[in-house]
Amino acid sequence: MKSIEVVYTPALLPLYDVKGKIVVVIDILRATSTMCVAFQTGVKRILPSGSPEECKIFKDFDFIISAERNAMKVEGFDMGNSPFEYQNPLLIGKSIAFTTTNGTKAIKLSQKMEAGEIVIGSFLNIEILCNWLLEQDKSIILLCSGWKDKYNIEDALFAGAVVSAIKQGFEIDCDAAISAENLYENNQNKLLEMVRKSSHARRFTLLNSQTDDVEFCLQKNICPVLPRMNGEYITL
Ligand code: MLT
Repeated sequence: MKSIEVVYTPALLPLYDVKGKIVVVIDILRATSTMCVAFQTGVKRILPSGSPEECKIFKDFDFIISAERNAMKVEGFDMGNSPFEYQNPLLIGKSIAFTTTNGTKAIKLSQKMEAGEIVIGSFLNIEILCNWLLEQDKSIILLCSGWKDKYNIEDALFAGAVVSAIKQGFEIDCDAAISAENLYENNQNKLLEMVRKSSHARRFTLLNSQTDDVEFCLQKNICPVLPRMNGEYITL
């Protein structure tokens, strides 16, 4: 019987067997949300990079280079990690080399551990993601990116939303999955209120962020795209 497991941070992923399984990488604030916006806009491909230095190499190969560290755009890069930056039609057809504090790290780890398939999940593409997951005959790992290997509430809420939506077709023998499902089902009508209290929302406030990325990233199904790893690149 195919199973669903929730992994609350990348630090825990080595405890799981990912081979042959679908790993859904989750970074609601903001990498996977931003990636869904980028593909909805018409970006051609995204190269997840491990560091700003690695990312910069691709500037010479006609890539747009995007880097975020500690929730801030890295100096000297074309773009940061706010989803609002990726609504720009000038990005249509472009290749982006992209590194973020947590999300791209989770993607690279999933690759290194030879996950069967790696897909990008966010509230923005939750319906197309869940419909696709239900059509696959594979076990699933919902990998939360967290914050620097610590648990965060927004990724757990999303993981719970996915478990709640697709659980009928799967065996669930994972307390993290049961907990995430309960967290979501008990708070699904007040997600914004919940996430406004999160540590990452507080980081944005302290940074005096000019855009409300929290509210934006909690919208459901505004980006009906399914970005997936295709070799080294994320593409549709
Ligand atoms: C990320 O997306 O990796 C981080 O969670 C930080 C951010 O973009 O604010």
